[in-house]
Amino acid sequence: MRRKLAAGNWKMNGLAAGLAEVQTLAQTHPNDTVDILLCPPATLLDRMSATCAGSAIKTGGQDCHMATTGAHTGDTSAQMLADAGAGYVILGHSERRTDHAESDGMVHSKTKAAWDAGLVAIVCVGETEAERTADKTLDIIAGQMSGSIPNGAIGVNLVVAYEPVWAIGTGLVPTLDQIGEVHDFMRTLLIRRFGEDAGQSIRLLYGGSVKPANATEIFDVSNVDGALVGGASLKAADFSGIITALE
Ligand code: G3P
Repeated sequence: MRRKLAAGNWKMNGLAAGLAEVQTLAQTHPNDTVDILLCPPATLLDRMSATCAGSAIKTGGQDCHMATTGAHTGDTSAQMLADAGAGYVILGHSERRTDHAESDGMVHSKTKAAWDAGLVAIVCVGETEAERTADKTLDIIAGQMSGSIPNGAIGVNLVVAYEPVWAIGTGLVPTLDQIGEVHDFMRTLLIRRFGEDAGQSIRLLYGGSVKPANATEIFDVSNVDGALVGGASLKAADFSGIITALE
């Protein structure tokens, strides 16, 4: 049985004042019947980890460098994220692929760095609107997964998030059939590559305009093991509604 995961990606949002809401969230969901994860900006990670200590909420980073240490001004290593209390790191988000020209090869190296630091890597994949219209969605997903995920996925060290680029922050959501088609396809690819046991235990998240109002129907889709939530993770009440839909 795969453990469900509600993950919040705060992106470039969040100041120390917002930690009070995180405390409220932790009090609202004291039992860890599902995994709950918040990925704040790096500046807040250490303090959020301290706020969440002893609660059901885990913390993660939004990116890491592929190197362990060195002359990389402005970057953060996976080891540093772990040192700040992270258990997870989001890698290959489409905003990083676009804003920072991150290639599948870079995501591949970052995933290895994350594993070396003992972090669970959440590798993001997803097609653009033009790619979906051109009926290339499954090809894009297959290419990103084979290029971004290194050998060595054992199940618990990897989560794959399907985030259609056109659904991120737009209020647009694929149909449930479209989500199911991609998630079933990703499961097949993972089993083919990593074997039945590992392939079945890797969790698959859907991300893109998930809200309390649509969470339940999305979580009912086959091979959807939770969500990677952007905007709705910034408000404790909204994220709590999504967690409740998963519990
Ligand atoms: O990583 C989460 C994300 O890109 C989805 O964002 O705001 O559409 O939930 P949002």
